[in-house]
Amino acid sequence: MGKVYKIAVVNGDGIGAEIVPAGVSVLKAVAKKHGFNLDLNELSWGAGHYLKHGEFMPEDGIEQMKTYDAIYFGAVGLPEVDDTLPARDYTFKVRGKLKQYVNYRPVKLFPGIDSPLRDKTQKDIDFVVVRENNEGEFVQNGQIMHAEEAGGVATDTSVFTRFGIERIAHYSFKLARKRRSKVTNVTKSNTLIHSLAYWDRVIAEVAEQYPDVEYNTMYIDNASASFVLRPEVFDVILTTNLFGDILSDLGGAIMGSLGLGGSGNINPEKDFPSMFEPIHGSAPDIAGQNIANPIGQIWSAAIMLDHLGETEAAKDIMKGIEHTTSKGNLTKDLKGNASTSDVANSVVNYIETSE
Ligand code: NAI
Ligand code: MG
Repeated sequence: MGKVYKIAVVNGDGIGAEIVPAGVSVLKAVAKKHGFNLDLNELSWGAGHYLKHGEFMPEDGIEQMKTYDAIYFGAVGLPEVDDTLPARDYTFKVRGKLKQYVNYRPVKLFPGIDSPLRDKTQKDIDFVVVRENNEGEFVQNGQIMHAEEAGGVATDTSVFTRFGIERIAHYSFKLARKRRSKVTNVTKSNTLIHSLAYWDRVIAEVAEQYPDVEYNTMYIDNASASFVLRPEVFDVILTTNLFGDILSDLGGAIMGSLGLGGSGNINPEKDFPSMFEPIHGSAPDIAGQNIANPIGQIWSAAIMLDHLGETEAAKDIMKGIEHTTSKGNLTKDLKGNASTSDVANSVVNYIETSE
């Protein structure tokens, strides 16, 4: 009997109920083939849970999560629930309390998928967005005052710490060493002259410890244009919480669909479990129709297994995804007519029948 990994499975809301089971079917197939076991436990948390119980997760939810090796997650949020709550009460809460300070978001073009960038091929679109995941613009440090009055005021103050910047920078440079040895710090220090000037300064100090890694900086506005015009200049993008959030959807778009992007919310020290989820949200507009693209969710399973040390199983999932896309087995968002379960079954079938 092989290793056993205890995984919390959180479908969440909307298409989570379709794409997470699709991803779980792939996980089960790959575990069987590669000789390890998954102890999967479903936790029905999210906006649906909030409608029934008045909270996104039970009071001891984070403590419960700490007993798992990893969390496999869909997305949270429903149109009938106040949309300021899902991030505060679920996503940011988990990322923060479990010190998942890295948001690892790879971008690459799969075979058989046309990028909306008409001249770009697989060799041009292959990079990772490393989004700082615990601080920055999303610390929710602010207030709304006198909202109904003419003098209404609202603030959100970003928080950047030396500790927080150094650890995400070290992660990025180490990751670059395993790739094409290039880090681009995407910043806006020409206008955010305190927070991001400090961000740049601390990152430049860390960069000196990695003389073998090419380091440069680019402003977020130029980086957005460069995603579209010259994505081949990027290898590892190191950026802030807000910029990384936006750039990763743009990354999803140049891959061909938001539904393709997988990600990991990672605590590299493994002091706490990490959480793996697609880059997109709960897509309530297409939920319940078996048409959502499950590839981002399936890719997240590969990132999870890689993090747990099951590297070969992770590679097998990636080959299964590539096999599926290259055969034109695509969902509606990619102009195909395959269903969510067709795509998942194709990946499962590849895993079961390949060497
Ligand atoms: P979204 O990412 O859910 O959807 C944006 C667009 O992309 C929609 O047209 C949707 O149909 C499409 N799309 C997304 N995933 C897809 C997939 N797998 N296959 C095919 N098409 C897909 O973002 P939106 O609409 O801004 O937010 C919807 C809800 O999700 C909100 O409540 C929001 O707060 C929540 N959300 C949750 C996140 C999380 O749990 N980490 C992240 C982002 C949004
Ligand atoms: Mg986002």
